[in-house]
Amino acid sequence: MSNAFYAPGDERAARVNDLFASIARRYDLLNDLQSFGLHRLWKRQVVRLARVHPGDRALDLCCGTGDLSFALAQQGAETVGLDFSEQMLAVAEGRRQKVEGRTEKAVPHSASRVPRFQQGDAQQLPFTDNAFDAVTMGYGLRNLASWERGVQEMVRVAKPGGRIVVLDFGKPPNALWRTLYFTHLRCSVPVIGLLFCGRPRAYAYILESLKHYPAQLAVAEKMRALKLNNVRVINLLGGAMAINYGEKPT
Ligand SMILES: C[S@@+](CC[C@H](N)C(=O)[O-])C[C@H]1O[C@@H](n2cnc3c(N)ncnc32)[C@H](O)[C@@H]1O
Repeated sequence: MSNAFYAPGDERAARVNDLFASIARRYDLLNDLQSFGLHRLWKRQVVRLARVHPGDRALDLCCGTGDLSFALAQQGAETVGLDFSEQMLAVAEGRRQKVEGRTEKAVPHSASRVPRFQQGDAQQLPFTDNAFDAVTMGYGLRNLASWERGVQEMVRVAKPGGRIVVLDFGKPPNALWRTLYFTHLRCSVPVIGLLFCGRPRAYAYILESLKHYPAQLAVAEKMRALKLNNVRVINLLGGAMAINYGEKPT
């Protein structure tokens, strides 16, 4: 299936923006369906690795509808979620208003337990150097025109000692598992996209973008080249998903 949403070079951002605008309202439901709910567990692991404490500052890039941003804020971190899609941010903002109302009732003056959302480009962050204790990105890196630039920006805005945690689709090292997994992405995931949001091509994009993304090993290599400490790759489901972790040198 040719993919209307993947384009190399300058057109990349516009196509990715169209894609998320078209699926924003159904994004959370489809995330649960295509990962059998497992993305929730993996995101919890990202938050554990971010190790934020009350009073810390956290930045969640390509935040989408805000899963990671809410979880970081729940730990007491003053959290900013950043994304370039107005439509995804509108869903995040709707969630924020609901959570804020609920939290304020249960624990008065607890507004800091909810993130704030901001529109921006993950490749050109509107923040000063050394500003955040933890910087996360869930399923965003693969979508950037330059994933290397995205990692550089994460490192730039992290404080010395700050944690950088990236969750994304990966490439399983085992050839048989890789073939099975890519077949799932090629065949079943677009069908879920068709059935539940009428957008098979938006979900065929996952495989297309993954083909053009060097995945977990190259991200770890880049983190090492940027002199991060304790660089780790955590393979999930045999490398079908992966978390890249590193700490900015002090
Ligand atoms: C697959 S969603 C991930 C959402 C969320 N982090 C999650 O894990 O569920 C990818 C998000 O990246 C955003 N995005 C893609 N390129 C971006 C860029 N250059 N700057 C900011 N956000 C971007 C999209 O708008 C979309 O909301």
